[in-house]
Amino acid sequence: MACMNLYRAMFRRKSVRRYHMHPLSTKVLTELNDYASGLEPLFEDITVKFTFAKHGEVRNLLPVRAPHYVLISSEKKDNYLYNVGFMGQQIDLFLSANGLGSCWMGAAKPRPGQIVKQPGNLDFVIMLGFGKPAEPLHRTDVSQFRRKPMSQISSVKDGERLLEPVRLAPSAVNRQPWCFYGTTSEVHIGRTKLNPLTSTLYDRLNQIDTGIALCHLVLSAQHMGRPVCFRFAGPRETEPPKGYQYVITANIT
Ligand SMILES: Cc1cc2nc3c(=O)[nH]c(=O)nc-3n(C[C@H](O)[C@H](O)[C@H](O)COP(=O)(O)O)c2cc1C
Repeated sequence: MACMNLYRAMFRRKSVRRYHMHPLSTKVLTELNDYASGLEPLFEDITVKFTFAKHGEVRNLLPVRAPHYVLISSEKKDNYLYNVGFMGQQIDLFLSANGLGSCWMGAAKPRPGQIVKQPGNLDFVIMLGFGKPAEPLHRTDVSQFRRKPMSQISSVKDGERLLEPVRLAPSAVNRQPWCFYGTTSEVHIGRTKLNPLTSTLYDRLNQIDTGIALCHLVLSAQHMGRPVCFRFAGPRETEPPKGYQYVITANIT
């Protein structure tokens, strides 16, 4: 995933919701398939599979139509949703960096009869729509991102450079459920605590969102020449800010 283009894409990407509906070439789809099969996971022990669907093979509650969809299926092990966000975001950035639009689609499902249950006990989790954009593909300035200010999501001293592309990460309903605390060499990541009502709506999506942010964190650290190693720290080591729950720690050397 050490690709400069993905780093740059974090500062320009946006969700594309209008597409030219003609299919992409087989060459482009093969390249994407090859890229997807070599993605870096967050957790290596969780099997994830990417399959492709065309318009008509997918049912979306919201009125976004794309010519193609990449469906992400996963084993349902602990933390699999973080892993799905982490891997799927590499696809979102890859598409953006290569002149194609994409959009995470939390409200879309494969139509009955399409591949939902994968061999090897994998379940459909979420999809991204993609294709040739029929609207501007990129933002031209960071000010065009509607995001929380750094001061609201991070208490990491001198963490602005490392965390700025993480702040810009996409999330479901733009809720940006993440927070960062600790130091620039040991960043703890938290996510918003939910109540029983909001949990039904957002627990799943917030985990995918946090995985997306972790993908941006790895790309940002790699860009600074600093490899990342994730670990789960003990509760005494990590007291998250009020309103957040601890997720994971990034050791950045
Ligand atoms: C997990 C996830 C699910 C999403 N689901 C939808 C969706 O169903 N429909 C949609 O139009 N946008 C969806 N989005 C896109 C978000 O609304 C979008 O990322 C957010 O508003 C920030 O805007 P940006 O991506 O243009 O920066 C989803 C994003 C994520 C990360």
